[in-house]
Amino acid sequence: MNHINIIDAYNEVYKLSYRRFEYPNLMELIINNLYDDIGECLGRGLCGTCHVELVSDHVISEILDINEKETLSKLNNTGINSRLACQIILDEKINNMTFKIITEHKHIKL
Ligand code: FES
Repeated sequence: MNHINIIDAYNEVYKLSYRRFEYPNLMELIINNLYDDIGECLGRGLCGTCHVELVSDHVISEILDINEKETLSKLNNTGINSRLACQIILDEKINNMTFKIITEHKHIKL
């Protein structure tokens, strides 16, 4: 079993477990466990509502594709470690990483 930490807008940390490819992407894991009001474009990398920031020391080696880059460039509050959760594959590469939810006005469903 793999794990990731998700930090919400109030700096609460949630540890989520996942199996490799259990969901199509990180966004679906987050939706299933924490937030259900992200992912307006259904994971196509266009809306930016699944904006997260990698806060681990790790670096995701994948190169951002052009859609993800373009969508991130239209958002506020992006940083060097900004990603779209819908574009992050749920595999062992992100095991033990920490991501902060950057989306605004989103409500956790716990
Ligand atoms: S769900 Fe729209 S950009 Fe990720």
